[in-house]
Amino acid sequence: MTWAIEGFLESKDRSLYIDGHDAVALTREYGTPLFVYSEPRIRHNIARLKQVGDNIGCGFKLCYAAKAMSTLGVLRAVRDAGCDLEVNSGGELWKALKAGFRGDQLNFNGLSKEVWEIELAIENGVYAIQVDSLYELSLIEETAKRLGKKANVSLRLVPGIESNTHSGLQTAMLTSKFGMMPDEAFGAFAEYKDSEHLNLSGIHLHVGSQNPSPAVYTQAFEEMFAALLRIFRETGIRLQHINLGGGFPVNYLRDGSQADDFPAEQREMFAADFSPAEAMRSAWAEVRKKAEAENALDLLEGITLLLEPGRSIIADAAICLTTVRNHKERPVHQSSTPYEGGVAAASADGVVLSSDHRPLTTDHWLLTDAGFNILLSMETYKWYYHLISAERAGEPHETPYKLAGPLCDGGDVYFDIEGEGRLPDHRLLPENVEPGEVLALLNCGAYSLAQASQYNGRFLPPVVLTKADGTTELIRRRDNFEDLIANDL
Ligand SMILES: Cc1ncc(COP(=O)(O)O)c(C=O)c1O
Repeated sequence: MTWAIEGFLESKDRSLYIDGHDAVALTREYGTPLFVYSEPRIRHNIARLKQVGDNIGCGFKLCYAAKAMSTLGVLRAVRDAGCDLEVNSGGELWKALKAGFRGDQLNFNGLSKEVWEIELAIENGVYAIQVDSLYELSLIEETAKRLGKKANVSLRLVPGIESNTHSGLQTAMLTSKFGMMPDEAFGAFAEYKDSEHLNLSGIHLHVGSQNPSPAVYTQAFEEMFAALLRIFRETGIRLQHINLGGGFPVNYLRDGSQADDFPAEQREMFAADFSPAEAMRSAWAEVRKKAEAENALDLLEGITLLLEPGRSIIADAAICLTTVRNHKERPVHQSSTPYEGGVAAASADGVVLSSDHRPLTTDHWLLTDAGFNILLSMETYKWYYHLISAERAGEPHETPYKLAGPLCDGGDVYFDIEGEGRLPDHRLLPENVEPGEVLALLNCGAYSLAQASQYNGRFLPPVVLTKADGTTELIRRRDNFEDLIANDL
């Protein structure tokens, strides 16, 4: 049970406990699918990231990336843990204010900002509006002028840094849609430095999400320091902050029982696990050397470093509980290229083998009530969420099953239907799983409910928060029939 985390996620009396609460008992009260988020784990993750501040010699500001999950109860838990926020739209900005964040605790990102969103950000005095293009910079200046205010802005650079993550999660490549070319940004600093309506306070980049290597943070920090120096030398502007974005990885393969079923690159990405504080300590040391050589230590030590992680705060703080609603048997079919050593690997003649290397002749299919309408990355990015039985968490998980969700959509499966082998073909659970059994998908907190839809007329699920004071609270109710037509005229 390498998925267990002492004091947080454990197996007791055979079943799964989260922060001391019986997960199956929660499903009896609230039904499934059900997300359970842990406030103590959110606090733990924020405290871990705050250690970055101890390892560097400048100011530090931690902003949780609200896009990863922004139900108000979670935003409040983040706020109570002493963390600021990164928002991506006027809607997220509004939710942040509702959750009790002050404007100066908010960083406003996004690519296609509308005027009303810029107005909302300026009126609320956000810490910085991250600017995505020269056009947008002029729009922000014009808006601030009209409002008679000065907007804090930070320019987003696209420095051409490649991370070894999923292609859809790369954001700092020149081929990506984000940010400005460094030369454009330098020109903008020169052009707008005397603007009465813009406070050019920082620069920003985000390398990508689930970055497997800490080295990209050193590279990013070095690029940003070089930009900081050039801006100071060419314009005299002393920037107040450098924002290195988010992207710290979460180890989705902490339970490695199926790790061999993944192709090497995919495995490396899912199993990535390094300490952000250590990564930033070595990044800081490298950049400090450069600052010393350039006689610019004061510039470096005078800045605030911002980080805006989402996944590493929220992903492992939640589980998704789902009930098996249907089952069937089918002759074995291998959907993907098998990998050496994997469960359900194929023998030389293509026969699918079970974990003890006996030929499998029948696939046991389990149909759950958790589909890609609530776990979209399972379909779009072939994301892996480790699956266990919540009712029999303490039993051996050695029997292979084919798993699929409830949607009337052939892509709604827990394996890689395109046959590229990016996910295991079978999942391992206890023997004889039948309809009615409650299962748990782990590490489900990030980019799940935040991307959910009512596809197929399915109700968006409720969310329970296990609180730091030992109680539980329903922070989002399940949709009802009326919610399905709430906006239909
Ligand atoms: C600009 C920006 N900042 C922060 C994040 C958060 O990234 P992660 O959840 O990987 O930490 C993202 C996510 O894509 C992003 O686009």
